[in-house]
Amino acid sequence: MKVENAKFVKDYIKITYDAWLKGWHERNGGNLSYRIGEDEIKDVKDQLSENSEFVPIGVSVSNLANEYFLVTGSGKYMRNVILDPEANIGIAKIDDKGENYKIVWGLLNGAKPTSEFPSHLMSHSVKKEATGGKNKVIYHSHTTNLIALTFVLPLDSKVFTRELWEMATECPVVFPSGVGVVPWMVPGGAAIARETSKLMEEFDVVIWAHHGTFVAGETMDLAFGLMDTAEKSAEILVKVLSMGGKKQTITADNFRDLAKEFHVTLPEKFLYE
Ligand code: 13P
Ligand code: ZN
Repeated sequence: MKVENAKFVKDYIKITYDAWLKGWHERNGGNLSYRIGEDEIKDVKDQLSENSEFVPIGVSVSNLANEYFLVTGSGKYMRNVILDPEANIGIAKIDDKGENYKIVWGLLNGAKPTSEFPSHLMSHSVKKEATGGKNKVIYHSHTTNLIALTFVLPLDSKVFTRELWEMATECPVVFPSGVGVVPWMVPGGAAIARETSKLMEEFDVVIWAHHGTFVAGETMDLAFGLMDTAEKSAEILVKVLSMGGKKQTITADNFRDLAKEFHVTLPEKFLYE
């Protein structure tokens, strides 16, 4: 089967275009990676060329050895993926140590995976372990309102989680573990990858101060929906703050009632008075 015709590639392309329409992907901003299942890679195996050279990832991810990832190219525009998939995205294979990758399809003309590949792979590594292999997607975007909030709220997971939860009743159900916050760091390297993946042990949403957001999900719909929900909540908070701030809100006890009804566990550390 042609790679572009595989369902996981079609789903991936749909998400990149939807994300572009959301306004989260100016220029080459943001990137998406998908851990391809064994059955899925089998269907396109005859289209892969395994002759390329392995190059270092820059971090070590031993539990991802021999896995295949569909990933956006560095410097490539999310909005162009739908127009020319083979030039803007590619399939990378990890070596048997989890230290190098090679391109086996796409990323034509010497293009490379996103500069955030270390953050993607370290987050995949943590989430694969934590979910017994269910988590398949790591997604980074430049969400306008979440970024705006990192200029006015303390860069503290407790504050961000509680404020975002209060802005939309669905939020504690969609991201019950809360959100993590990474202070400003130089993007694109091993250091920010380590900080992000540490927070991924606890959270599915990690905000990069003054930069953007990383989310993890079992499917592309779940990852995109999680990004959308957190960003929508941030948009409401920006509006509320612009209108002079909260006059009333959802209380800690309201959240406890919600948790009971919706069968989610909300950590008490976020339910402070
Ligand atoms: P890439 O073009 O390398 O994917 O970088 C975009 C980005 O958002 C960096 O954080
Ligand atoms: Zn970015």
